[in-house]
Amino acid sequence: MSTSQPVIRKACFCDGPAIFRRIKSHPNELVPRPISDIMLNIDRFLVAELDGEIVGTASWSVLPELDTSKNPSIEIQSVSVREDLQKHNLGRRLVEAAIARVAELQPCQIIVLTFTPPFFARLGFVPVSKETLMYKLYKGCMNCSKYDSPFTCPEVAMAYNPAPPKGNPPS
Ligand SMILES: CC(C)(COP(=O)(O)OP(=O)(O)OC[C@H]1O[C@@H](n2cnc3c(N)ncnc32)[C@H](O)[C@@H]1OP(=O)(O)O)[C@@H](O)C(=O)NCCC(=O)NCCS
Repeated sequence: MSTSQPVIRKACFCDGPAIFRRIKSHPNELVPRPISDIMLNIDRFLVAELDGEIVGTASWSVLPELDTSKNPSIEIQSVSVREDLQKHNLGRRLVEAAIARVAELQPCQIIVLTFTPPFFARLGFVPVSKETLMYKLYKGCMNCSKYDSPFTCPEVAMAYNPAPPKGNPPS
């Protein structure tokens, strides 16, 4: 294994095939994405690169918002770390970088749908009811070929709850 640290950067088109393979390498945890979808949303991907190889990914998508008085919410998706590099903080770095990027857009909420809730809980996400997100998730769920209802799907919906700033106790 390399001794250098993976570098997190914005993705570019030439990363598309490697991102495709990275996401596909977790068939049980991640929804596979067609290469066309990856290419059309490449500006919504971060990658982690180590020794010229893509070893991690994170992306996001904007969810529809019917209430025009609210900003749309953002879903963080396709978080992947190569197996031999897991448990070395790269997943955290990728998600924190994605949160920092999407926070600039001032979304109403940052959410994930995940089969790995303990990982996201460590990063400050808390479980939320799928019912509250139904119409926002519709586009993703309607194409699902694994489960016939979002309510029988074991994915857990979670929303980001930023940690309070350190060092300044509430007055
Ligand atoms: C989930 C995944 C992205 C985590 O990446 P990672 O680099 O191993 O995670 P990190 O080392 O940054 O872990 C951050 C924290 O989460 C914890 N954590 C990581 N994976 C965990 C898991 N599966 N269960 C419980 N806790 C976990 C770590 O122990 C660490 O805790 P700490 O804050 O106490 O140190 C990686 O295991 C992966 O690619 N899994 C397959 C795809 C997937 O499940 N993606 C997420 C769904 S979108």
